[in-house]
Amino acid sequence: MTIFFNQPYSTGRELEYIQQAMKNCHLSGDGPFTDKCHAWLQANLPCRKALLTHSGTHALEMAAILLDIEAGDEVIMPSFTFVSTANAFVLRGGVPVFIDIRPDTLNLDEKLLVKAITARTKAIVPVHYAGVACEMDTIMEIAKRYKLAVVEDAAHGMLAFYCGKRLGAIGDLAALSFHETKNIICGEGGALIVNDDRFVERAEIIREKGTNRSLFYRGEVDKYRWVDVGSSFLPSELQAAYLWAQLEESQRITEMRRQVWQNYYDLLEPLEREGFIRRPQVPDSCSPNGHLFYILVEKCEDRDPLIGHLKEQKIFAMFHYVPLHSSPGGARFARIGSSLSVTEAVSDRLLRLPFWNLISLKQQQRVVFEIERFMKTLRTSLSVNPPVRRQQPSLQPEQIAGGEDVKPSLV
Ligand SMILES: Cc1ncc(COP(=O)(O)O)c(C=O)c1O
Repeated sequence: MTIFFNQPYSTGRELEYIQQAMKNCHLSGDGPFTDKCHAWLQANLPCRKALLTHSGTHALEMAAILLDIEAGDEVIMPSFTFVSTANAFVLRGGVPVFIDIRPDTLNLDEKLLVKAITARTKAIVPVHYAGVACEMDTIMEIAKRYKLAVVEDAAHGMLAFYCGKRLGAIGDLAALSFHETKNIICGEGGALIVNDDRFVERAEIIREKGTNRSLFYRGEVDKYRWVDVGSSFLPSELQAAYLWAQLEESQRITEMRRQVWQNYYDLLEPLEREGFIRRPQVPDSCSPNGHLFYILVEKCEDRDPLIGHLKEQKIFAMFHYVPLHSSPGGARFARIGSSLSVTEAVSDRLLRLPFWNLISLKQQQRVVFEIERFMKTLRTSLSVNPPVRRQQPSLQPEQIAGGEDVKPSLV
């Protein structure tokens, strides 16, 4: 049976709330469901202001506008990230400056920050990869010392913690994503998180096409006008209704995902001990949210054949970011601010495993069984001349509940 890479989760109340939004006769943005989502985020991160957007990408674009990024302004970020982290600033004429990541968390290496700062630097964008926090105390201290803004790219970070603080609640601004691959979803969606008072009023204006319509709706001005740059960053009530059903259950969803993460972590321990793979590493300061589970294979040339082997078994695993500095857009729009040797060494070895809230232990065991089968065959074929007999993995198909799906044939 196929094991998909992702399966969007529904709590069961999404349709009811969407119908409620229809009955409310308020389908455009900033109706009752949007208000509930804003209030929830403001109370639970907590943050000064939360504003729903169409995507994490849009939240990052709003952050770039709020910071008045202009042509030539530099923004320090990892190259190992999604294109939107960089593009949001490039759209304003900014220049992403890529620095390397830490080998343990794969997050921006805070030790490289100071050297990358120039007179043009305006901001730092730490990306909390896989819901594991960047070293925020150091990053915030450096930002303060050099008077730089911090925009957390918390697209993966919903409800994860760093030193007891929620990701997204630490920087001046932050972006959350509610894309269907994330923990809390509404199809496509996101939120701009504002932690610094000075951005609150302008953030509302930028989100409402550069008008002060939010003030008008609250009765604070007699008519609304064009007052600043902006765009239509606010999503409809239909998205907010779906999201509300998820936010209500967000604690339970996070616990389910943490369990899935822990299952992979435990099941893969023998493979790490035997030197086939490396599992994610989580510093004591971080309490992650089970966003995704990756492994690093020993050699980059083994990664794609492993993806192929899993696919033959109808198991869908995925590589992740192609480093931005090695992409045409990176060469055109960005600058390199440090050696990127860890980024380059890691990105070709990384494999994300199938991960969703309701993946069963049985399915996870099957994924691990097939990884082990592939790895052990590979090692045997390297050490012994043909004919090669496949070495038996430590987990036998019959030990996997429902292992009848697993064909232990030679590859
Ligand atoms: C690190 C990071 N930042 C930003 C985004 C953009 O989020 P969205 O898809 O909601 O636009 C993503 C998307 O996966 C991401 O991985």
